[in-house]
Amino acid sequence: MQMREDGFVAVATVSEIDQASAQGRGLVVTVGEQTLALFRHLGAIHAIDDMCPHRGGSLGKGTFENGFVTCPMHDWKFDVTTGQMPLGGGVASYPVRIDGNDVFVRIESV
Ligand code: FES
Repeated sequence: MQMREDGFVAVATVSEIDQASAQGRGLVVTVGEQTLALFRHLGAIHAIDDMCPHRGGSLGKGTFENGFVTCPMHDWKFDVTTGQMPLGGGVASYPVRIDGNDVFVRIESV
């Protein structure tokens, strides 16, 4: 795992995330003990927890459309830019930095 001095960790490439988002899903990556789902929306890349708080569905494997991902298990919907659900609740989101083709995320607990 490549960690920068500012605590950001390399998790994927821009190309991998773009390819997944173009196919209407997220890119699932593991960082330490955590699993994240990465999405491209309106030019920016966003990182949220992959595990749905309902019953643990993989949000990265859900349907991604117009900035929202729908859980593949029971259709709960999450804003990928914040991790929040429209009616409240949600999952954590993480700061993202891009350096060339490399995408870095900062996870406090790593
Ligand atoms: S596990 Fe995600 S909606 Fe049920």
